[in-house]
Amino acid sequence: MKILIIGSGGREHALAWSFARSPRVSAVYCAPGNAGIEAVATSIDLDTTDHAALVDFARQEGIGLTVVGPEAHLSRGIVDDFRAAGLRIFGPSRQAAALEGSKVFMKELLAKYRIPSASYAVFRQRDQALAHLDDRRYPVVIKADGLAAGKGVIIAADHTEAVAALDLIMSRKAFGEAGSQVVIEEFLTGEEASFIAFTDGKTVLPLPSSQDHKAIHDGDRGPNTGGMGAYSPAPVLTPELENQVMDKIMYPTVAAMAAEGRPYQGMLYAGLMIDQGEARVLEFNCRFGDPEAQPLLMRLRSDLSEIVEAVIDQRLDEITLDIDPRPAVCVVMAAGGYPDSYASGHEIKGLDEAAEVAGVEVFHAGTRREDGRLVTAGGRVLGVTALADDLAAAIDRAYRAVGRISWPDCYYRRDIGQKALRSR
Ligand code: AMP
Ligand code: GLY
Repeated sequence: MKILIIGSGGREHALAWSFARSPRVSAVYCAPGNAGIEAVATSIDLDTTDHAALVDFARQEGIGLTVVGPEAHLSRGIVDDFRAAGLRIFGPSRQAAALEGSKVFMKELLAKYRIPSASYAVFRQRDQALAHLDDRRYPVVIKADGLAAGKGVIIAADHTEAVAALDLIMSRKAFGEAGSQVVIEEFLTGEEASFIAFTDGKTVLPLPSSQDHKAIHDGDRGPNTGGMGAYSPAPVLTPELENQVMDKIMYPTVAAMAAEGRPYQGMLYAGLMIDQGEARVLEFNCRFGDPEAQPLLMRLRSDLSEIVEAVIDQRLDEITLDIDPRPAVCVVMAAGGYPDSYASGHEIKGLDEAAEVAGVEVFHAGTRREDGRLVTAGGRVLGVTALADDLAAAIDRAYRAVGRISWPDCYYRRDIGQKALRSR
């Protein structure tokens, strides 16, 4: 079978790497892909917002299965367009992707079905939102309704910052239409974890727990990014909590989506806040996490193509996952300046030396080839991911490989995984 992956990040490289290992898969294509993905797949230079062009490509190449990485394509209805063309594709429909694409929809769904999450209020009018801020306890969390490339969530420490956040979203329209409604939410404390599962709309098959590191600097300081590193498993999600999350969050959410006439199929990613033995939903994503996909897919021994096909055919109950018991750690190497402005085009050195560290895979996120050289081409550049017998050894392996890679303004966090070591 031939597989087409949509996207160009570390997540997509890890997906391509996982599919390429399957004896059922004869070829992997990735649109648009990146320089590293080319080791396991053929990059396709197509405008991925042009669904008709992607459908044409899939038909001409005889693609048996398409897998979508980023949320924006799902929210734009790529799954609906492929299905309408009679093509097999993995991911939620446009209506189901609203779980990530509209925070208002998500919060209202969770409230209606009593799924644990922060208390909230929704506003369309700036003056009403301002009035609501008067009697808040701070900090509060202010969220643009729609997709905002991870930047639409602002944690306001006091009233002044909250007013500034409303101005940014509602008056200056920093996120365009995504900010036509805002959610003002109770600030939750605790430890965050990612709970990512396959679902066919009936069965929920969870991957092991994982934890992202969203802030740019060590000690979770500085602005949020797409994710600066991840590890799996996350000890904060004990077996008891995992059962709680399945019973109180994952299954109820899948049932709620079906009851609302938006049957959900694909990856369901719950961003959780864990506090005193209780898990609450911070957000849902309708796709694999990035960087979480990198350590998770390194631990997945099962054939990914079989799982994904079982989702599409609604026979996920027949699948059990074979997971490597060893932990995995991914350290993201980024361009200096990210998540604000940064330079591109720096030559990356040391990848061959890094690949010699046992148990390490270097997944590419923002790279391209230029005159035969491998150069940086994005904020997050590489995801250096390692498996080892225990977490400390996996961290050590990942950082040993990181130490062999360089380019002029390369930046990475030095404390990925430390939280899990401390919690033991
Ligand atoms: P999101 O874009 O919805 O994933 O939110 C980004 C980040 O904002 C989350 O990973 C949390 O760190 C933080 N966050 C979102 N909602 C809350 C909340 N209600 N309380 C505390 N932190 C939050
Ligand atoms: N790592 C966070 C995300 O994928 O949204």
